[in-house]
Amino acid sequence: MRVHTLLPLAGLASASASATKGCNVIKGALEQVYLPNSSVYEYEAQNFWSNTELMSPGCVFRPQTSAQLARGLEKLVAAEAKFAVRGGGHMGIRGSNNIDDGVLIVMSNLTTLELSADQSVLHLGPGFRWQQVYDFLEPYELAVPGGRLGPVGVPGLLLAGGISYYGNQVGFACDSVINYEVVLANGTIVEANATSHADLFWALKGGSSNFGLVTRFDIETLPSTKVWAGTWTVAEEYIPDFLAATAAFAANNTDPKTHIVPAVVPSADSAVGSVILFYDSPNVSYPDAFKPFTDIPAEANTMAFKTVAEMAREMGEVVTSHINDIFVAGTIKATTYDDLLQGVNIINATFAAQLPKLYAQIPTANISIIELDWQPIGAQWIDASNARGGNALGLNASEIYLCYAEVVEWIGSAYDEVVGAWVVETTELINNATDAVGLYDPFNYMGDAAWFQDIYGGYGAENVAKLQEIASAYDPEGVFQTLMPGGYKIF
Ligand SMILES: Cc1cc2nc3c(=O)[nH]c(=O)nc-3n(C[C@H](O)[C@H](O)[C@H](O)COP(=O)(O)OP(=O)(O)OC[C@H]3O[C@@H](n4cnc5c(N)ncnc54)[C@H](O)[C@@H]3O)c2cc1C
Ligand SMILES: *[C@@H]1O[C@H](CO)[C@@H](O)[C@H](O)[C@H]1NC(C)=O
Ligand SMILES: *[C@@H]1O[C@H](CO)[C@@H](O)[C@H](O)[C@H]1NC(C)=O
Ligand SMILES: *[C@@H]1O[C@H](CO)[C@@H](O)[C@H](O)[C@H]1NC(C)=O
Ligand SMILES: *[C@@H]1O[C@H](CO)[C@@H](O)[C@H](O)[C@H]1NC(C)=O
Ligand SMILES: *[C@@H]1O[C@H](CO)[C@@H](O)[C@H](O)[C@H]1NC(C)=O
Ligand SMILES: *[C@@H]1O[C@H](CO)[C@@H](O)[C@H](O)[C@H]1NC(C)=O
Ligand SMILES: *[C@@H]1O[C@H](CO)[C@@H](O)[C@H](O)[C@H]1NC(C)=O
Ligand SMILES: *[C@@H]1O[C@H](CO)[C@@H](O)[C@H](O)[C@H]1NC(C)=O
Ligand SMILES: *[C@@H]1O[C@H](CO)[C@@H](O)[C@H](O)[C@H]1NC(C)=O
Ligand SMILES: *[C@@H]1O[C@H](CO)[C@@H](O)[C@H](O)[C@H]1NC(C)=O
Repeated sequence: MRVHTLLPLAGLASASASATKGCNVIKGALEQVYLPNSSVYEYEAQNFWSNTELMSPGCVFRPQTSAQLARGLEKLVAAEAKFAVRGGGHMGIRGSNNIDDGVLIVMSNLTTLELSADQSVLHLGPGFRWQQVYDFLEPYELAVPGGRLGPVGVPGLLLAGGISYYGNQVGFACDSVINYEVVLANGTIVEANATSHADLFWALKGGSSNFGLVTRFDIETLPSTKVWAGTWTVAEEYIPDFLAATAAFAANNTDPKTHIVPAVVPSADSAVGSVILFYDSPNVSYPDAFKPFTDIPAEANTMAFKTVAEMAREMGEVVTSHINDIFVAGTIKATTYDDLLQGVNIINATFAAQLPKLYAQIPTANISIIELDWQPIGAQWIDASNARGGNALGLNASEIYLCYAEVVEWIGSAYDEVVGAWVVETTELINNATDAVGLYDPFNYMGDAAWFQDIYGGYGAENVAKLQEIASAYDPEGVFQTLMPGGYKIF
């Protein structure tokens, strides 16, 4: 169940007969197929978040309707041709959303963006980034739960679960999806919702690309004028207080309007603590729930009333596209402040102790960002998910989860292997250390996970069995496992 991918630097393109056949077969049948050296190919083959994702597909298929996608898929399946699917291209894992020689299907032109008559539901195509969605909704004074950074893609996030600013109010972003339009392996287009294909509806909430290609998400909207949000950054001397604030918030928060992403951001010779704070209110600042953080003096802060679209744009500027990136996920779970603090301290200290090893191998000028962040997911969040019908992620509302993410961004593909080996070792050290004190949990949030990590095992054996059963029912030939090798596979 690990992600199927080519290791960095492993991809020597070899022209496979079946891949060439795939491009030939759909090129003859559909107009929306683009060969290398066409401007569309050149644009779409580069339209990825991290350089580590760039490959050499044989052609690009960019359908404009779900019917065209269905027709193309039928042709590829009949020819037994390999393909990959890309939405916003933010899964930073080589081979997860791209392919050498095969057909790269891109969602860019599936761009439904329309409110229902009563504005309670947004019909949303997979061709968008979240910034476009928030910009569209802003004049209506509405938002949806989605990516916190504007550039991130819609479909991959919703199929992974989706950690949004609204988690404590509405659960994972996928829990607000009330209907999916899906192209199945045999080219049939179905609507999956609570009353039609309810098993598929559930499986799409965390089960990623194992069941079909989603061509429209119908997602519930939320009222949103302005929010009080930004970052609060504290100096290195306050990092112990900052880590304590992280544990205190995770253990104690009862205000559903809150969302936080505390991060420790080291540089070569120092470090800061910087937390994203989001409060869903147009007129309340400095809520009590944030006191653990806002009581620490800030050396810089951007807290202000702003729209969600403005917030997503501001956060999007923090990261750089088109360099080389890796995210790694991990989780501790506990129920008390003391245990959560112990876990946070172990993770931070283990990560910090590994840093000299990385700096010894990569010049500081070639490291763009190193960051370690935490995302608390507790009872409010999980209860909100369950109230909307639940999802495949398998989290238990009696626990408090603190999902951590390691982020490294670097310049120069020459360092891909160094960074890869470093995060593998660092992650194992962290997880071994949290396991030794009984805090480790196998949940790895897909959106933050790396190529070497297992995802579905963390959902629990029962959910894995259900997901496998549903995949077999909707895709008996295993098209989405074999012909579409990229991404996190359930088998
Ligand atoms: C800078 C950054 C910030 C992030 N912030 C957040 C955040 O705030 N919250 C959060 O939850 N996650 C976040 N993520 C993680 C994010 O959710 C994942 O990277 C997600 O995969 C992005 O979606 P995408 O469409 O861009 O992905 P892609 O890379 O395009 O796709 C991801 C996977 O889904 C498959 N897929 C894509 N479209 C479809 C479709 N229509 N039908 C079936 N399968 C499909 C692809 O084949 C691939 O395997 C962030 C990632 C980055 C890099
Ligand atoms: C693309 O164009 C380059 C330069 O014009 C050329 O060398 C190359 O062979 C072309 N590739 C294909 C697949 O046509
Ligand atoms: C398809 O997507 C591309 C890239 O976003 C865009 O330039 C083009 O206008 C779109 N075409 C249609 C028909 O939507
Ligand atoms: C669920 O799917 C059925 C069958 O296509 C459709 O009639 C119904 O409107 C859908 N429900 C929602 C909430 O979209
Ligand atoms: C949690 O909240 C309680 C009640 O408000 C308070 O007494 C306690 O100090 C808080 N714990 C932490 C770690 O902040
Ligand atoms: C603050 O905003 C909320 C939500 O819009 C509103 O219900 C409340 O009346 C406002 N309070 C004040 C004091 O303006
Ligand atoms: C946390 O990690 C940072 C570097 O990432 C380090 O500077 C700091 O000393 C660490 N603090 C603790 C308490 O572990
Ligand atoms: C959820 O966690 C509680 C507390 O640890 C445990 O008693 C319960 O059995 C768990 N529920 C499930 C479904 O695992
Ligand atoms: C390191 O980064 C610089 C730009 O900062 C770049 O020019 C150089 O090629 C990179 N080094 C390697 C080995 O890629
Ligand atoms: C983690 O623990 C396993 C099992 O005890 C061990 O084999 C492995 O070497 C440990 N990893 C590291 C990096 O110490
Ligand atoms: C396509 O697959 C679905 C799900 O297995 C099935 O219900 C449907 O009958 C199939 N359609 C055709 C035309 O085979």
